[in-house]
Amino acid sequence: MAKDKASGNEKLLIEAAKEVRTKAHAPYSGYFVGAALIDETGALHKGCNVENAAFPEGICAEANAIGAMVAAGGKRIVAIAAVGGAAELEPCTPCGGCRQKILEFADKNTRIILLGDDDAIDSHTIRELLPAGFRLR
Ligand code: THU
Repeated sequence: MAKDKASGNEKLLIEAAKEVRTKAHAPYSGYFVGAALIDETGALHKGCNVENAAFPEGICAEANAIGAMVAAGGKRIVAIAAVGGAAELEPCTPCGGCRQKILEFADKNTRIILLGDDDAIDSHTIRELLPAGFRLR
């Protein structure tokens, strides 16, 4: 995990993730997540978690942001931020399934930007978060 000085993009993505988190539909868990990413064209895509009364049908914020990117024609994730928490923000890392979804559109330079303790901005690679992730060869 790198704890570099936050770049402009990192702050922009965290702010976008916080903004879209306010739209999350999470009446069952009470845990609200927002994700924002920049694709290879520089376009911004956002998603929040959308839960369902049939619990397994809920969708994570990262998955929805990636879906928005793909629907807009984006191919690669340059950087993705995710923030979450119940009432207040707390350190929140992508679930295993979302790590695999990020891997699909990541390369070694893709940054995964998360809030750590005391609102520190932590920047990770997908390899750090998902060593030996599944790939079809
Ligand atoms: N959640 C996400 O949106 N992303 C993650 O990576 C972890 C979990 C959502 C799913 C569910 O709506 C709520 O957080 C609690 O698990």
